[in-house]
Amino acid sequence: MKVLIVGANGKVGTLLSGKLWQASGFSPVALIRDSKQQTKFTALGVPSLVGDLENGIVSFLLGMDAVVFTAGSGSHTGEDKTTDVDQNAAIRLMKDCEKEGVSRFVMISAIGSDPNSESKRIRHYLRAKGVADAYLRSTNLDYTILAPGSLIDERGTGRVQISENLGFHGYLPREDLADCIVESLRNLNSISKTIQIISGGQKTKDAFSELLGVGLPPIA
Ligand SMILES: NC(=O)c1ccc[n+]([C@@H]2O[C@H](COP(=O)([O-])OP(=O)(O)OC[C@H]3O[C@@H](n4cnc5c(N)ncnc54)[C@H](OP(=O)(O)O)[C@@H]3O)[C@@H](O)[C@H]2O)c1
Repeated sequence: MKVLIVGANGKVGTLLSGKLWQASGFSPVALIRDSKQQTKFTALGVPSLVGDLENGIVSFLLGMDAVVFTAGSGSHTGEDKTTDVDQNAAIRLMKDCEKEGVSRFVMISAIGSDPNSESKRIRHYLRAKGVADAYLRSTNLDYTILAPGSLIDERGTGRVQISENLGFHGYLPREDLADCIVESLRNLNSISKTIQIISGGQKTKDAFSELLGVGLPPIA
């Protein structure tokens, strides 16, 4: 499965690039914004393409089987950039995937993402992510929305708690999120599902097969 990782130079995207490269059946391609970032991916053995979501990346979709959206404008930018990248550029990419027949789309969202979020701390972000998620659910794409809790840089534990609606918040090492993305891509029963994820006590693979069933592997 040829997977375009959008936001590959980010913390989650970099971990995911390495994991997909090592996992059998996947052929990751890193979408990065700056050619200087290419060295890192060359060292990993992962091919990279230079492009900016805001300018559109439709020309890179040819031959892809799946897209993982793990980009984000980041907390250092203003609300306008959050709307531009996390919401509008994400939606533009979904439209391009539909047009180009790239049907598998894994979105990295967040617990609490909601077009009507009333969060006091990160309302604008959660609303932008919520609008993008709602649009994705309205498409014909084979989507999975993964909604992690607050991401931390600690080493992954390999154990998570997942549910379509956890009902509470928590933390999640980015490395564990990267493993969850791989599990979702592997399990076709994750299609049309929104899965919330925090750190927990169940092995990642077991948590996914308990929630989703074993599921058919994707056709390579
Ligand atoms: N932080 C949290 O607690 C949290 C919680 C839940 C969900 N999330 C979501 O998890 C995902 C991954 O998070 P992370 O920590 O890995 O984020 P990150 O390290 O900030 O990475 C985001 C990546 O997006 C790229 N990007 C930004 N604008 C772009 C554009 N216009 N075109 C192409 N690429 C662009 C950045 O490129 P450059 O490297 O060139 O800057 C960066 O590599 C994000 O979608 C985030 O919203 C985060």
